[in-house]
Amino acid sequence: MNTTPVKIVETVLRDGHQSLAATRMRITDMVPVLEELDDMGYYALEAWGGATFDACLRFLDEDPWERLRTLKKHLQKTPIQMLLRGQNILGYSHYADDVVKEFVKRSVDNGVSIIRIFDALNDTRNMECSMRAAKEAGAHVQGAFVYTISPYHKDEDFLKVAQELVQMGADSICIKDMAGLLSPYNAEKLVRTLKSQLTVPIDIHTHFTSGMGDMTYLKAIEAGVDMIDTALSPFAQSTGQPSTEAIVATLQGHPRDTGIELTKLHKAADYFRGVKTQLVKDFGLNDNIPIDPKVLTFQIPGGMLSNLLNQMKEMGSADKYPELLEEMPRVRAELGYPPLVTPTSQIVGSMAALNVTLGRYKMIPNEVKDLVRGKYGRTPAQIDPEVKKLAIGDEPQIDHRPADDIAPQMESLKAKLAAAGYPNADLDDVLSYALFPDVALAYFKKHR
Ligand code: CO
Repeated sequence: MNTTPVKIVETVLRDGHQSLAATRMRITDMVPVLEELDDMGYYALEAWGGATFDACLRFLDEDPWERLRTLKKHLQKTPIQMLLRGQNILGYSHYADDVVKEFVKRSVDNGVSIIRIFDALNDTRNMECSMRAAKEAGAHVQGAFVYTISPYHKDEDFLKVAQELVQMGADSICIKDMAGLLSPYNAEKLVRTLKSQLTVPIDIHTHFTSGMGDMTYLKAIEAGVDMIDTALSPFAQSTGQPSTEAIVATLQGHPRDTGIELTKLHKAADYFRGVKTQLVKDFGLNDNIPIDPKVLTFQIPGGMLSNLLNQMKEMGSADKYPELLEEMPRVRAELGYPPLVTPTSQIVGSMAALNVTLGRYKMIPNEVKDLVRGKYGRTPAQIDPEVKKLAIGDEPQIDHRPADDIAPQMESLKAKLAAAGYPNADLDDVLSYALFPDVALAYFKKHR
């Protein structure tokens, strides 16, 4: 029986606004409240990584590394946590090992203490390089697996991935339920399974998308989960995390009381309510994203549904939307049941949209071909043989770690950057350029 206080990972500075405000929170919105957050008694503040890096450069005219250093300056007590997509770093395809290593090292040097690492296919080979680099840099390495529902994703399968991650050096394990698919009783069972077989702490990360988030956390807590991810209420619920205040209040007087003071949370939440209003105004954001229990049937996260609908409007086939909902699970099965998370969600979604618009597999994007080739890693199940044939003909699939085929990139990146007029770019700039060359160059042009 776990009788220790439930540890809270506050996500308002990363997933909270990524889920509910299109990742538009600026460092200037954060600074005034950082010391208050630092004093809250959180286990960690998730504040960097995920989509924030891209958003800083692309939309906010901010240097993401500078943001991290500013965060660190104000957060002296609470560890800064980041989300890393394994070999994809913070981008959408695999990078060479030397880029992954430098990126992880610079993240830690600039202020990150806890790195949550995952791979869209739960292929642990895609996490080896970043996990090793994070260990070497002295960070706490949290190995995450993505939760999904399919005939190939039973509790035993997740346990096996978690055990591999522990063997690879994970200091804790995270259940990453990005679409809110994990139901309360299934969470209870999964947490029990993990707790009975593993000695490292277990963290659970859910989204409120299906409306079950609070219940899922409560059952996970009863089953002995160690950490939970929550966001202050203005950036909680709908497609974000359950709210910090509600969970803290729920546990008051319970043996696993978080020890966090509700009045302090209210004060910080009031501050963020103002930030939310301002962001909605400044960026013209949708302020009312409802929960969508349909995600449980179609397994398509809410944000993705609207993206796909837009895509189909552009192709002039918006009327085929009901067919798309049927086509998604079919394509997912044919492509080996990948979990639907960045970047596999986009890959499966686009394929399904093309199938209903042009006919099944009449046009196959390169990303789908690469997935079939094994270039994203091992899919949970075999690719359907006919789809394989249509996509890559008789070309063989690779069965080794995809990044083994990628030559080192750091030197050529530096050379390219020099040729673009930045011969003295520092390491952080080289890494920004590695991930998002066009937006990074646009940023440098303005600021360097
Ligand atoms: Co999330």
